[in-house]
Parts: sequence; structure tokens; C-alpha cells
Amino acid sequence: MDKSNMKVCVIGLGYIGLPTAATLASNGYKVLGIDVNQNAVDTINAGNIHIVESGLEKLVKVAVERGNLLAKTAMSETDQCKIFMIAVPTPFMENKKPDLRFVQAAIESLAPHLKRGDCVVLESTSPVGTTAKIASWIKDLRPDLSVPEENVEADYDINIAYCPERVLPGKILFEIVHNDRIIGGLTKNCADKVQAFYETFVKGECITTKARTAAMCKLTENAYRDVNIAFANELSMICDEQGIDVWELRELANRHPRVNVLKPGPGVGGHCIAVDPWFIVNASPERSRLIKTAREVNDYKPNYLVQQIQKKLQHIESPRILCLGLSYKPNVDDLRESPAVEVVKLLAKNKHFQVYVCEPHVDVLPEELLAFNNVSLCDYQEISLDDFDHFERLVEHDIFMNLKTNQAAEEVVA
Ligand SMILES: NC(=O)c1ccc[n+]([C@@H]2O[C@H](COP(=O)([O-])OP(=O)(O)OC[C@H]3O[C@@H](n4cnc5c(N)ncnc54)[C@H](O)[C@@H]3O)[C@@H](O)[C@H]2O)c1
Repeated sequence: MDKSNMKVCVIGLGYIGLPTAATLASNGYKVLGIDVNQNAVDTINAGNIHIVESGLEKLVKVAVERGNLLAKTAMSETDQCKIFMIAVPTPFMENKKPDLRFVQAAIESLAPHLKRGDCVVLESTSPVGTTAKIASWIKDLRPDLSVPEENVEADYDINIAYCPERVLPGKILFEIVHNDRIIGGLTKNCADKVQAFYETFVKGECITTKARTAAMCKLTENAYRDVNIAFANELSMICDEQGIDVWELRELANRHPRVNVLKPGPGVGGHCIAVDPWFIVNASPERSRLIKTAREVNDYKPNYLVQQIQKKLQHIESPRILCLGLSYKPNVDDLRESPAVEVVKLLAKNKHFQVYVCEPHVDVLPEELLAFNNVSLCDYQEISLDDFDHFERLVEHDIFMNLKTNQAAEEVVA
């Protein structure tokens, strides 16, 4: 594959799109990055980054300086890309139904620029059937081009495939290259073409399948994690009720050669595990009772934790509570769907509580916490645990792990 002739367009330059664009640029592709966020575009074109991800800043800087990566808010006629990768958000709506408006907007922005032979690849985590929806949207927008009909082999003008991203934040640059990739084509020909492209920069195996299987595969991976975490979370609440130390129990149970109970925590967050299982539940509500219950168990956990803290502090007039961490997982700045934010919000609703938050990865509290005047952000280096009636390590950031606990301010079991 001649990379110098293959301009790639990456739509959505966030946690997934920007590392992907920078990886492609460092592999010899000319990359056009499109993002509706002007600030992200300006930051990237200045050789900087607007998100936190290890090693990314350097990669972006070099790619921009060499002229291999350019960011814009919209495509123009002269851009002439051959591969269009979509990495825009796929959240759910209030009723937990998937919100595909960002994907549809991305298709509307790329459709006028499609030419015969181009590939459209969806990377955003999406409900089963979204790849076929993309084909129908393109068909409506570009009746002059033939687009693939699902599982009907033919020589179409446009190739469409789904290639879910399964990277771990904090290790994205390594995993983009080394993880195995599942490539689901609307037809086998689409899958083969997109596989040939991914094999130019991925060292893991690129395995082809049908688009629907690839979509379900990504949702399965996240629902599997969610169900297993829910088991640990449920166990921690049962143990509380029965006066058992869940951490000791977990250690003992995991001595069984075929048991691996995960760690309980304040809930499940992030853009993926807390969202994607709902795409399965929404599509097959009658058949996904376990997956739905797991979501509910994990969503309930912040409430349970706050109830426990309230019980413990009920005899202290105006308790000072320290919450360590706000992000949804350790060592990242990503606060989306974070149970730690939810815990702080629920604590703040009790006007008698003074809530102090240490989150070394952010400079300001998220908007939903700014509304409370009993919550403040403080510097981890400047606090002493002795100043608090209670502390809760909501996120296992490395920086918090050497913390010496004092007797007065001990944690409630997560
Ligand atoms: N973050 C992860 O760890 C991760 C892992 C696997 C899969 N995913 C999936 O990847 C997708 C993207 O996630 P993310 O974390 O990168 O999201 P993000 O919010 O960090 O980035 C998305 C970017 O898309 C931009 N955008 C929105 N609409 C646009 C449009 N119409 N045109 C151009 N740009 C647009 C936004 O401005 C934003 O910069 C989601 O479907 C997510 O579920 C994320």
C-alpha cells in the first residue's frame, strides 16, 4: 500500500481520534484531522494537545512539524482523502437509548467528499446495525455512488466497515499499535480492504468479520467487564451487611485456581463501560436481564457509599470530608460518567458537609460540582489527613497509593 498516496481523514480528535491520527502520521500517512472544537484544532496545529495521554504530545508535535498532521474544523474540496475514520462520541440519551447524532453529523460532513474507491471506517463504539445505517445515510446523501448492501457481495464504489477501538487510556499509543483489531465489513470485500489498511500500522492481528459481529464484539467486551465489576460491588455491599471484610474475602476466594473476583469500587465510569452495555439492553431488552442488572448495581454504588459515610459521620456537626480523585479511572484526567464525581455530588447535597477534593489531573472542578458552595478543590501536596473527619480514596491514582492513613479519618470500604 503506497502510504504517500493515501491521505487519511480522522473525524473527531479526542481521546481516540487524536492518538490514531498521530500514529498514522508517524507511520508515513498524510493525515487530516477534523474536529468541530476550534480550541482542539488550534491547540493541535500549534503542536500541543488538549487531552492527557502519555507520549501523545511529542508524537503530535513531530507530526505537525513535519507537515504530516493538519487539523481543521471542516473538510474542503482540495483535501482529497481516501480513508475516512470516524471517532466521534456515541453517548446515550436520558432514556439510555443510543445517541447517534454525532456519527450522523460526521457522515454528513464527509459525504460530499467521497469518491469511488474510498473507505469509511467507524471506530466509535456503536450499537449493532450502525454500520448499515451509515451506508443508508451515504446512499441518501450521494445517490451518484453505489454503497454496500449488508452481506451482499458486489463491486461497490464505497467500502464501509466498523473497527472498534479497545485501547486503555494511559497506554493508548502502545495499544493502538499492539492490540488485535476486529474489522467488520458490510461485505467481505469491504472488510478485506480496510484490513489491508490497518495492517500497515497495527502490529497486532487484524481479524475480519461481519459488521454486526464486530459491533457486538466491542459491546460484549465492555458488558463482560461491567458484569464482573458489578459482582464485586454487590459482594462488597453484602459483606458490609454481614460484617465481613470484603478485601480479605476476595483474597481468600481468589486462592481458588478458577476464581478471580475483581476489586469493588465506588461504581463504574467512563465513556465506555458505563455506557455501552445499554446499547445491548436497548436492542434486546427481554434477553439482557443480567447485563441490565449489572448496570443498575454499578450505578447504585455511589449512593450506597454516600449512605455509609453519612451513617459514620452522623454525630459530627459539620464534618470535613476529603475525597481523593475525581476521574473515572486511575492516572487519567477523564471525568466522564465518573462515579467519583457522583459521590462528591451526593455528599455535597448534604449542606452540613464540607467536601474537599484532590484531583491532581484537573485545575478546576467540573461544572456539576461548581454549583455547590460546600465543595472545594485542594492541592494534594498541601493537605494533611489529620485535618479531616473522613477521607475517601475514590480513585487509585499512583500519587495517592503511599498515603498513610490515620485512625480518625479512615475510609469506608469502597
Ligand atoms: N476514550 C476511550 O478510552 C475509548 C476507548 C474505546 C472506544 N471509545 C469510543 O471512541 C469514540 C470516541 O471517544 P473519545 O473518548 O475519543 O471521545 P472524545 O469526546 O474525547 O472525542 C470526540 C471528539 O469528536 C469531536 N466531534 C464531535 N462531533 C463531531 C463532528 N460531527 N465532527 C468532527 N468532530 C466531532 C469532539 O469535539 C471531540 O473532540 C466513542 O464512541 C467512544 O465510546 C473510547
